[in-house]
Amino acid sequence: MTTFTVLPSGKTYDVASGTTLLAALQSVGEEILSKCGGEGKCETCHVLVSVGRKSLSKIKPTENEKLDGMIGISSNSRLACQAILGEEPVTVEWVKA
Ligand code: FES
Repeated sequence: MTTFTVLPSGKTYDVASGTTLLAALQSVGEEILSKCGGEGKCETCHVLVSVGRKSLSKIKPTENEKLDGMIGISSNSRLACQAILGEEPVTVEWVKA
């Protein structure tokens, strides 16, 4: 079990470790898009991770390639569908499309 905080609301939720960020966000009612169904192909689940980056699963080459081709990314960017929560708390920000 771990916690994640969603910005800008600042709400914090408990979630099982091993859950993707996308599933965690959706499970608490955040209206994050996932046009490709979580397959890492659409970019709609882009989030910025401000705390706990090292607690997330490592970026795989396919996610890295996708991020490289996106506009508006930063060093904190992840695709929520590809990032799996670990044991440490995470804070993420996403912008409604
Ligand atoms: S849901 Fe499409 S890239 Fe994450």
